[in-house]
Amino acid sequence: MDQKTVPRHVLIFPLPFQGPVNSMFKLAELLCLSGLHVTFLVTHHIHTLLLKYSNIQSRFDAYPRFRLQTISDGLPDDHPRSGDQRMEMFDSLKINTKILFKELLTSGRLNSDSRRPVTCIIADGIMGYTCDVANDVGLPIIYVRTISAACLWVFFCLPKLIESGELPFAVDDDLDTPIMSIPGVEGFFRRRDLPMFCRSGNLADPNLNLYLPEVKENPRAHGLILNTFDDLEGPMLDQIRAFCPNLYTIGPLHSHLKYKLAGQSLSPLPSTNSLWKEDMSCITWLDSQPPNSVLYVSFGSLAVMTMEQYMEFWYGLVNSGSRFLWVIRPDSLTSDPTEIPLELSKSTEERGYIVRWAPQEEVLAHGAVGGFLTHSGWNSTLESVIEGVPMICWPYFLDQQVNSRFVGEVWKLGLDMKDTCDRVIVEKTVRELMEDRKDEFRKSADEMAKFAKQCLMEGGSSYGNLERLVKDIKAM
Ligand code: UDX
Repeated sequence: MDQKTVPRHVLIFPLPFQGPVNSMFKLAELLCLSGLHVTFLVTHHIHTLLLKYSNIQSRFDAYPRFRLQTISDGLPDDHPRSGDQRMEMFDSLKINTKILFKELLTSGRLNSDSRRPVTCIIADGIMGYTCDVANDVGLPIIYVRTISAACLWVFFCLPKLIESGELPFAVDDDLDTPIMSIPGVEGFFRRRDLPMFCRSGNLADPNLNLYLPEVKENPRAHGLILNTFDDLEGPMLDQIRAFCPNLYTIGPLHSHLKYKLAGQSLSPLPSTNSLWKEDMSCITWLDSQPPNSVLYVSFGSLAVMTMEQYMEFWYGLVNSGSRFLWVIRPDSLTSDPTEIPLELSKSTEERGYIVRWAPQEEVLAHGAVGGFLTHSGWNSTLESVIEGVPMICWPYFLDQQVNSRFVGEVWKLGLDMKDTCDRVIVEKTVRELMEDRKDEFRKSADEMAKFAKQCLMEGGSSYGNLERLVKDIKAM
């Protein structure tokens, strides 16, 4: 076959965690729809999860230009790859996978008569070794970060925070002390709004050391793809641009894909986000609730809490008098369950509904949902933003502390309830969002949703940036 007519070939390598894999999968679909060949490289461990929980097979059928390739993360099958042992995976990827990655790219196994050798690598920017390999084999590389621009900017400023003496501090220091050495957030950013690992009081903290090189690492790539949009994070993007001038802001990715498919008269495939089976009965329950009356409660795929914390939330929700749909993941309880008081189960039967896992995008798009009590994970935040649903934020870790501050203080899309789940505060905050200040929050959420949708349409920033990304890849 004449290689000149064969499409360019992109290798996408996500960080092997569920969140980044999901959003980079959407990117892979978008690039396939734009006429590129895509090889999606996942670790054996992620491959096993995808086969078990996702609809990956139907994706193969939908996209003939899509290939899945696997690689070892160098860890034994029974390694947990989570919690404190998460760092062992980062170390192993850097040492073991790096060698295999280079071997794969030079082996010729990724090309065939109808598929040219890889012409561009797109990898998660936290895996800096992929840039070393790209340079060694002479391929251009574009990084992707699946967190907010605001959080990435905070990561970029970690060295400055240390230099200025604002880091380290400890969890029992005054967390309301303002942070002054992050340009663009002076005046509203406090110690408690920094990523959770900043509270360890220890400069040797492994998480801190993982994110510390970001400011040097990200500018090494040809460009940086971000799952955000200009109207939401313009000022933070301007700060990042001083280090990485070539930004491709193409989010919200999940909606971008839906819009692109609709534009080509194709229907979206069911979401691959699910780690657990989605309980569709909650949609039937929502169908019978009044418009905007239900608070959707979900803390994402990783957050865990004690039974005491659950009980505080539960009493707060019930005492607020609001209707609620609550996702309680089977693995989210860290202590032994205790008996549920009768008054709680009775009120929950009357105006609440509990599931183990929900079809979240569908729930947030449902007319009965009027608010979202969330852990402020970046995917959940974007999903809420595009549906115009105001939020109550109870961040758990990492980027979530930063996101929730922006939701409450900058975008005015809801209330930041970080660091407390006392039942009285929960009740008060729910009443504030769902009743007292309902109109004010709905108005700003509707406005931001309008911006989010506009950016995905022809002429919009994310639409244009995706076109530019595809054009740049085709020119490589
Ligand atoms: C965390 C981070 O907070 C996130 O910002 C980071 O990029 C990855 O790690 P997670 O806890 O998974 O992620 O939260 P989030 O990013 O919000 O993703 C959760 C996903 O699960 C969302 O796409 C949501 O739609 C989905 N979900 C959640 C469901 O489909 N059903 C549910 O019941 C709950």
